[in-house]
Amino acid sequence: MHVFVTGGTGLIGSAVVAELLGNGHTVLALARSDASALAVEAAGAEALRGSLADLKVVRAGAAKADGVIHLAFANDFSSADAVARAVAEESAALAALGEELVGSGHPFVTVSGTPYAPGRVSTEADPLPTDGPVGGRGRAVMAVLGLASRGVRSTAVRLPRTVHNEGKGGFAGFLTEIARRTGVSGYPGDGSQRWPAVHALDAAVLFRLALELAPAGTSWHAVADEGDAVRDIAVVIGRRLGLPVEPVPQETYGPLGSIFVVDQPSSSAHTREALGWEPTHPSLLEDLGRIQP
Ligand SMILES: NC(=O)c1ccc[n+]([C@@H]2O[C@H](COP(=O)([O-])OP(=O)(O)OC[C@H]3O[C@@H](n4cnc5c(N)ncnc54)[C@H](OP(=O)(O)O)[C@@H]3O)[C@@H](O)[C@H]2O)c1
Repeated sequence: MHVFVTGGTGLIGSAVVAELLGNGHTVLALARSDASALAVEAAGAEALRGSLADLKVVRAGAAKADGVIHLAFANDFSSADAVARAVAEESAALAALGEELVGSGHPFVTVSGTPYAPGRVSTEADPLPTDGPVGGRGRAVMAVLGLASRGVRSTAVRLPRTVHNEGKGGFAGFLTEIARRTGVSGYPGDGSQRWPAVHALDAAVLFRLALELAPAGTSWHAVADEGDAVRDIAVVIGRRLGLPVEPVPQETYGPLGSIFVVDQPSSSAHTREALGWEPTHPSLLEDLGRIQP
């Protein structure tokens, strides 16, 4: 398949591009800078120059391909306004991609997050949150899944709070960055809340399987570790960096603070059974054990 990928230079997208190329697909990757174009070409993909905000370019990428995988996101959580801008940019791009694909029968795999289900482990059957700081992302994903009735094989790969590689990435990566900056390996709340995780190389396999196999309108969980207590994550970071481990105020994490304190374990039992996905790479706590001071 010739696949148009957005976000192909990111932590997860670069693993997805490699996974596709290693399994007989070809890739056209959106690249918003010279450096990004060089990176995707070095990986063996063709670059399509443009940003997520260039809706004509985004549509042209989808028109040239047999399938689309969307991963690009500004990931700017510095303020509520920055998050809102990132969500608006992504929502417009998803709508443009969807319009281009209507009636094509092509696969359209978009990225999403695992939901939380109060008092239990969330599953693929649980609805996405459509409120809170990133609720707009949930609404945009629901619109993509709704294209199943308009001739698009649209699916969502829901990612856990931490998608990691070499100890970097996601919420745990954010805790590590703050620990390096402040000299304290902090955690919000009482630290007993659990966050799910997956290695980026395992997540990449699920994006490929969803592209190749998933029926229209379906959602999948790229969850390897159902939930690590946040305090256990902070303890590994503190040990590796030689820093004290302490509770810190929720506000330390800006707009993400209200999400960071929630217990949100998640399961991938249905995904493993239905798509034959089986994670094989190191767990989050093993991977964090490799970070260096
Ligand atoms: N890592 C995690 O733990 C995690 C967890 C849950 C969900 N997710 C989601 O998974 C997706 C990928 O995450 P990631 O960790 O791989 O992110 P990342 O490493 O920050 O990469 C972001 C990617 O998006 C591209 N991008 C950002 N804004 C763009 C724009 N305006 N136009 C074109 N390209 C743009 C970047 O391109 P450049 O290289 O040119 O900057 C890069 O390829 C995101 O939607 C993220 O929210 C990640």
